[in-house]
Amino acid sequence: MSHADIPSMGPERTPAGTKVKQVQGLFDRVAKRYDAMNTILSLGIHHVWKRTAMRLLSLGPGDWLIDVCGGTGDLALLSAKHVGNSGRVILYDMNRAMIEAGRPRIERSPSRDRIELVLGDAEKISFQDNCFDAAMVGFGIRNLGHMERGLREMYRVIKPGGKALCLEFSNPPSPLFRSVYDFYSFHVIPLLGSILAGSREAYSYLTESIRVFSSPEELAAMMRDIGFRNVLYRRLTRGIATIHLGDK
Ligand SMILES: C[S@@+](CC[C@H](N)C(=O)[O-])C[C@H]1O[C@@H](n2cnc3c(N)ncnc32)[C@H](O)[C@@H]1O
Repeated sequence: MSHADIPSMGPERTPAGTKVKQVQGLFDRVAKRYDAMNTILSLGIHHVWKRTAMRLLSLGPGDWLIDVCGGTGDLALLSAKHVGNSGRVILYDMNRAMIEAGRPRIERSPSRDRIELVLGDAEKISFQDNCFDAAMVGFGIRNLGHMERGLREMYRVIKPGGKALCLEFSNPPSPLFRSVYDFYSFHVIPLLGSILAGSREAYSYLTESIRVFSSPEELAAMMRDIGFRNVLYRRLTRGIATIHLGDK
């Protein structure tokens, strides 16, 4: 794939089936270096965002949670600490390489017995209706062929009264900050992706897909249309990322 192909992978410009294959190919390639790259490219800030997400989701002992597009398990590991021995966290992802890259860390964790790894498609979640206390998705919704289907599926599997959380990149609203961020995104991130992870394409896709992703207002409106109540969002680090929350 040439660099020039990458912009066409944005959610609004590529047929959904093609996008799924391309996205999965990218995660196959970067899986082993995914965690280290996240930390380097975000200067560690993604850990702060993930801890903030956990706080806002306010899980309690005994809760059952599904971590949709769970990848290598950062959010699953954090949430497993909160659900106690009677709770469960399902790390749900369609990419075997990502799950396998995260497996050793999960197996070393004291919370390992609370986490189950399930391979599956976020647009067709392989669980019954109304069976989780909460569902979350971290940096995954943007990658789906049909984002709305993924959110509907999260809504379907949580119980009435349950909560959903979406943590995703977004476009900073301040033009000044955005110009600095754009320089970093379009020049530094692809370069580091090529040097450190051996894939300029994967990291060009990351920045392109953020640019064409829905605004926080649009995502909130989509959640309300699906049926989520009390939808709210909170921008993080000047709007580089945003957390959406909603109740069923
Ligand atoms: C950027 S990673 C995020 C991983 C993790 N949630 C985190 O915050 O670090 C996106 C993940 O979404 C997964 N993914 C993309 N499309 C998916 C789908 N249709 N169903 C399930 N997982 C999917 C990818 O395999 C990848 O592991």
